[in-house]
Amino acid sequence: MSAQKAVLLSAVQPSNRLTVGNYLGALKNWVRLQNEYDCLFFAVDLHTITLRQDPKALREQTYRAIATYIAAGIDPAKATLFIQSHVPEHAELAWVLTCFSYMGELNRMTQYKDKSAKEGSNIPAGLFIYPTLMASDILLYGTKLVPVGSDQKQHVELTRDIAIRMNNIYGGDLFVVPEPFIPPSGARIMSLQDPTSKMSKSDPDPNSAVYLTDTEDQILKKVKRAVTDSGTEITYEDTKPGVKNLLDIQAAITGKSHPELVSSYAGKMYGHLKVETAQLLAQELAPIRTKTDELLKDLSYLDKLLQDGAEAARSRAQVTLARVYDRLGFVPGRYPRRSF
Ligand code: TYM
Repeated sequence: MSAQKAVLLSAVQPSNRLTVGNYLGALKNWVRLQNEYDCLFFAVDLHTITLRQDPKALREQTYRAIATYIAAGIDPAKATLFIQSHVPEHAELAWVLTCFSYMGELNRMTQYKDKSAKEGSNIPAGLFIYPTLMASDILLYGTKLVPVGSDQKQHVELTRDIAIRMNNIYGGDLFVVPEPFIPPSGARIMSLQDPTSKMSKSDPDPNSAVYLTDTEDQILKKVKRAVTDSGTEITYEDTKPGVKNLLDIQAAITGKSHPELVSSYAGKMYGHLKVETAQLLAQELAPIRTKTDELLKDLSYLDKLLQDGAEAARSRAQVTLARVYDRLGFVPGRYPRRSF
């Protein structure tokens, strides 16, 4: 970690096992970017309770998420790794940001519209204000870059709006205004069963997603069963969302361009594309799965790492929160009296 490097921060909700969408849209890019930035990566347990969670599963998945970050290549000696609820400043700043965000803008969030539509008439209020907690995650650490999949772009943009709004009132140096980093391929991996909707960890159909816990055999079966389109020619087009999705997965893993991949499939059948995509996925994910399972055997190692991570994160978060409270006019008490 170096004070000169810009801050990069990102997180995953441990609301289920992670999918290859989470990996290609987010995690793989964290690994690519980690050496150029001062990085913080965490598991956002406070976010998961916006919908009901099974406590036992949540605890297991939270450890698993952190183990997966390391297994995927995040260096715990360089990046700060922690669990969101271990740093209470996240919830505190979220309250402040909630007071500076508007019902109208929160109501426009696509993810809120999608998720609340499934909840009937009892929509948890947390689901509505969730983006202000995410804004808090980001703004607490003076984050410059937020590598996420395209579904989270709107939340990062809202974070920017809130930061600029408060900077205009309380001084331009109150918050660093962050930017999203959306990868050129893999930013939106689609469901294998319905390639017009996003692959999601919360999809009740386990065949819709490849999980990072899946074995080679499971991956092969799921990808072979993936819904493709009518026709036989392999092209990268919106009218062929199933084929497009498999090509996207390949592009995100190999770094090859779509035209390059399409020309390598000239004269080949969908079956070829499916088997080769499955093989690439299996090769990429096998070492991550094995390493994750190994790490999960030693929870005391993870606990120590997470405790150190939370302490490091907390001391940074407190500086921001103290500055915000001071600018708002709160009487100093918890934090030493100083002028910001
Ligand atoms: P979450 O847990 O839904 O997803 C974690 C990351 O995976 C990306 N992602 C995808 N990328 C490509 N294709 C997909 N099908 C796909 N599904 C998910 C997401 O864009 C995300 O980058 N609110 C966030 C977590 C969060 C956060 C933060 C992220 C909380 N605080 C601060 C960044 C910074 C979420 O629910 O992600």
